[in-house]
Amino acid sequence: MEIPLSRRTAQIKPFLAMELMERAKVLQAQGREIIYLCLGEPDVPTPAAIVAATGKALAEQATSYTHSLGLLELREQICQHYRQTYGVDITPEQVMVSAGTSPLMLLLFSALLEEGDELIFSDPGYACYPSFVRFAGGVPVPVRTVAKNGFQPRADEVRALLSERSRGLLINSPSNPAGSILSSRDLAALAELPIPIISDEIYHGLTYSGEEQSILQHTQDAFVLGGFSKAYAMTGWRLGYLIAPLPVMRRLQILHQNFMICANHFVQRAGIVALRDCQAEVGGMRALYNQRRVKLIKELRRLGFGVHCEPQGAFYVLADARHIDGDSQRLALDILEQTGVAVTPGVDFGDGAEGFLRFSYTRPQEDLDLALERISLYLKRRGCLPN
Ligand SMILES: Cc1ncc(COP(=O)(O)O)c(C=O)c1O
Repeated sequence: MEIPLSRRTAQIKPFLAMELMERAKVLQAQGREIIYLCLGEPDVPTPAAIVAATGKALAEQATSYTHSLGLLELREQICQHYRQTYGVDITPEQVMVSAGTSPLMLLLFSALLEEGDELIFSDPGYACYPSFVRFAGGVPVPVRTVAKNGFQPRADEVRALLSERSRGLLINSPSNPAGSILSSRDLAALAELPIPIISDEIYHGLTYSGEEQSILQHTQDAFVLGGFSKAYAMTGWRLGYLIAPLPVMRRLQILHQNFMICANHFVQRAGIVALRDCQAEVGGMRALYNQRRVKLIKELRRLGFGVHCEPQGAFYVLADARHIDGDSQRLALDILEQTGVAVTPGVDFGDGAEGFLRFSYTRPQEDLDLALERISLYLKRRGCLPN
């Protein structure tokens, strides 16, 4: 029997980074030694205090459902974090905790968008954004951003795309895939736009140069997506939060009650410890990533890749590889098959990054060195680098 699936389901495109990783796993199972530079996932362990807090929470049977917005103590800690870090005042009633930012995106976009409503976001940008928007019934409207602006949207570029159906602008700073940050001036200009801003602040805590600012320093008419996956090395724990204007919180809470119930209880207890006690560990990770970042930019340039905007945050370098092959998926697959190095094809992040490759520096330095050595040989074989 052929089981029909909804049109909504059929229109979601594969997440190429995952597809590439799955191919790499097949090669690994055949005995190939793979270096994974395709993952948006820290290689460093989750800080010990977070692991210990989870053990304690489990021993204390923190295994029940919690309040649908999340444990009050965790929400208070998130408010405290935003006060300390950005000097903004939010209340626990504005915070909703869930299993990562991903489910919150689905929930928020479903709440904001009627069928056919538009959400503007940067191209290149995080691969899953348009999928979330489409699945919520909306129309993703990419704003084609340029390298000289760090592949970040400018207010005038967004203004040119505004229509009757525009319901919001989605921003991401530090960004995936370029690692660029929006300056205070950029954020202030975007905050003047007549549509709400949804600010994905998942990479906050991992900024190496420039000032890390929250959109909430510029406007209260904004939604913030924040989480623990990246800065606290907690990808698989699944913990994130949404900060929203108070008047819409009740409706969002009702959606969360129905569709998610609540986030994992003992993981929420771990989240309190992460924010309260682990800032030094985050600083250590930042220093480590920064060393790798500086070296990777230099080495990629030495191999002839264009790094048009140096990443200032997150843990990625978006490298121009158009002189090797304009088809980034074909190139990434060929590099994987020939060298065992897995990198993400730029086209995953939109047409604006076609011909680029995203290198993630979430591997130890010796792996990064080996990966570049293999790519150097590959480029020499292809005649793209002198012997
Ligand atoms: C820009 C961006 N936002 C959100 C996410 C998803 O994060 P989470 O683990 O909180 O669901 C990712 C994951 O790579 C990301 O790169």
